[in-house]
Amino acid sequence: MNQDEMKKASAEAALEYVESGMIVGIGTGSTANHFIDLLAGIKGKIDATVASSIASEERLKSHGIPVMDLNSAGQLSLYVDGADESTKQLHLIKGGGGALTREKIVAGASEKFVCIADDSKLVDVLGKFPLPIEVIPMAQSLVARQIVALGGNPVLREGFTTDNGNIILDVHDLEIMNPVEVEGKINQWAGVVTVGIFAQRPADVLILAGESGVTTYK
Ligand code: A5P
Repeated sequence: MNQDEMKKASAEAALEYVESGMIVGIGTGSTANHFIDLLAGIKGKIDATVASSIASEERLKSHGIPVMDLNSAGQLSLYVDGADESTKQLHLIKGGGGALTREKIVAGASEKFVCIADDSKLVDVLGKFPLPIEVIPMAQSLVARQIVALGGNPVLREGFTTDNGNIILDVHDLEIMNPVEVEGKINQWAGVVTVGIFAQRPADVLILAGESGVTTYK
């Protein structure tokens, strides 16, 4: 199995969490795209979806899957999304695709967060993957200085604007030993919209696909 086939296998395994009449929160990225494509095959089973990005919304609609606004949907039963890194504690780095803010909102509104990925995403300590932070443009330098003080190396994601009209700073060289604490700390900085650590609201289920099949962590 190549990496893309593994992503698809993890997406396939997440289908068992989809129950009749649910409104399902949908993540963003290549693994979430597999989930969307597979969901199309059982679209009659669900009531609707809530998308975490414009890209996912467009893909859902192209399959004829109904998409709702989160404010109309209320509490969701299930959120399915990929990740850039995960620990066995189900703490995640997300935002490689830049959709971290809406992803964190939809995850926060969902009873169960099922994370799907290939097993290359599993790490002991978060931070080898550059940590994305969505920042209000005028705060770029201010936030960058605070990242440096924390020991990280911030790099502006060139030519990229989030769905919310903001910039992304990708933080290199930050070993995140205490994700819950670091998430809370960075979130407090003026100008930070969202930090791509998902630890205060971690995943509830992690489905990892590898050469030897699918492993589920809870
Ligand atoms: C999108 O902003 C990200 O959080 C994605 O969920 C993450 O980057 C995983 O992407 P892939 O499924 O494409 O690896």
